[in-house]
Amino acid sequence: MSVWRALAAVSIERKLRPKEILFHAGDFGDGCYVVREGAVKATILSKDGQERLLAVLGPGAMIGEMSLVDDEPRSATVSAIRDCRLVHLRKQAFFSIADQNPAIYRHAMRLLAQRLRGTNESVLAQGSMSAAGRVALAFMSLAGGLGDGSQTGRIVLGHRVTQTDIANMAGVARENASRAINDMLRSGILSRERGHYVIEKPDRLHALTDE
Ligand code: CMP
Repeated sequence: MSVWRALAAVSIERKLRPKEILFHAGDFGDGCYVVREGAVKATILSKDGQERLLAVLGPGAMIGEMSLVDDEPRSATVSAIRDCRLVHLRKQAFFSIADQNPAIYRHAMRLLAQRLRGTNESVLAQGSMSAAGRVALAFMSLAGGLGDGSQTGRIVLGHRVTQTDIANMAGVARENASRAINDMLRSGILSRERGHYVIEKPDRLHALTDE
């Protein structure tokens, strides 16, 4: 049996409705999840009680790997932003299969390294990037979790994201996020389609993060 089949054989399906919470920050971590369909968001609360969006994670993404690895409580609250189908792998099942298949550890290490890179980019953005650059970075990160790419290169964000979400994610004031988004809409980098943002020019969006 392939390793992925072995994992699938011991995993349990879990469905979530939009806004349903998978777990809260601080909860005990009893395993990890893989998103099969839909999208979830990982959020934390700042000291003043504001929700801070860390990431939007779509099909194929693994969630809950941090508690799995370090035995600490959940580092963020994870909730569905649309109908979701996930699979849950209990900690013990994960480790008993992974111990016999080092490829799983390699995969998990790659995932953690990628998340750390994302965090490094955010740290850099907080220090040196313009508000427009930070907003562009937030859109790129959303495209990773929500993006529905097409052959024409445009990326439709398959979920209604508010300017406040973008501002939180980018770590900029809402008015500044709003100004940057309006500039991007005017210059054709972004558009709106039935209430959803569309990244019309991913290359130009990416270029904004270098300014
Ligand atoms: P865990 O700490 O077990 O529970 C919360 C989960 O949210 C965490 O594992 C990761 O799967 C996910 N998560 C936390 N922080 C981030 C981040 N900065 N980027 C992407 N995912 C994250």
